[in-house]
Amino acid sequence: MRPARALINLQALRHNYQLARQLCADKALAVVKADAYGHGAVACAQALHDVADGFAVSCLEEAVELRAAGVTLPIVLLEGFFAVEELAQIVEYNLWCVIHAQWQLEALEQAVLLQPLQIWLKMDSGMHRVGFFPQEYAAVWQRLQVSANVASVVLMTHFSRADEPSSEYTQQQFQAFTEAIVGMQAPISVCNSPALLAWPEIRSDWSRPGIILYGSQPVALSEGLTTEFQPVMTLQSKIIAVRELPAGEPVGYGAQFVAAGPVRVGIVAIGYADGYPRHAPTGTPVAVDGCRTQLLGRVSMDMLAVDLTGLSQAGVGSAVELWGAQISIDEVAAAAGTISYELLCNVKRVAYEYSTND
Ligand SMILES: Cc1ncc(COP(=O)(O)O)c(C=O)c1O
Repeated sequence: MRPARALINLQALRHNYQLARQLCADKALAVVKADAYGHGAVACAQALHDVADGFAVSCLEEAVELRAAGVTLPIVLLEGFFAVEELAQIVEYNLWCVIHAQWQLEALEQAVLLQPLQIWLKMDSGMHRVGFFPQEYAAVWQRLQVSANVASVVLMTHFSRADEPSSEYTQQQFQAFTEAIVGMQAPISVCNSPALLAWPEIRSDWSRPGIILYGSQPVALSEGLTTEFQPVMTLQSKIIAVRELPAGEPVGYGAQFVAAGPVRVGIVAIGYADGYPRHAPTGTPVAVDGCRTQLLGRVSMDMLAVDLTGLSQAGVGSAVELWGAQISIDEVAAAAGTISYELLCNVKRVAYEYSTND
């Protein structure tokens, strides 16, 4: 059996949720959209069921998967519905629904529903992706107040630059939000992971941590809680071949790496078809039998090469960690010019193994 594996430590996930919850002033929705950022939404939601206040997903299909697996906690649909027909199922599955656009508002008002819905009213306070502008928000709020299809409303917005502690934009967004909701008696929801880490003065009734639950650090803070979050996924494989090459010999497609001196190369059974980033360059860190070393040359579909020079004990069968406790996924992401979110969501084809021990 091919040795490429994603080990998912559900105990670390619970630990991270509890740490995130301490940062929140109040309740925290565990964001488990996109199959829990590639970790497996059902397994993650079940592991958090007795500690979480609720979950957030991106669409009805993701929510139905959780309900079918026995998840009874609140689930918020972060983009609401994509077609009017979904409203009946949103009622049936007892989901909480974001409204971010005029067409959704009108569809909600006109629908005939068996029960009124819990609505999360999204404001575009500066990200300019989805949501109602601050100047139109009060009018939408009023319409929701008189709609028979609305049971209650949570006021929400989303930050676009909370991972930049030196930018004032997050405070500007929060100010625009708070000014526009004056007089509205309703809970608010604003903080994602970077806001929880970098903006302690901004808190809300419902936080929405995602990436910190999985142990990645979206903000480069020099101290504090960031170091206490534990990686949930370990991406690992094994060395399947070794070759000794003299100076001047290339490795892999395109001869992107050429040995400057004698080099011992290990070939690892994992590649971009497993979700390892093809753009990770020579020098990207990996660990072989617990020792840090580096990637050599281009990543192929099913294999990649690592430097075993000086690691004389390593050979065929040696364990390779691509990311996990020894190699931070944030380091790999930085080397490959991307973010941990994308790396985690891209993992595929590998065998998933779940554990509850740390
Ligand atoms: C509306 C909303 N809230 C919360 C999150 C979670 O963000 P993070 O993973 O940065 O905590 C996301 C993720 O994209 C989101 O779209």
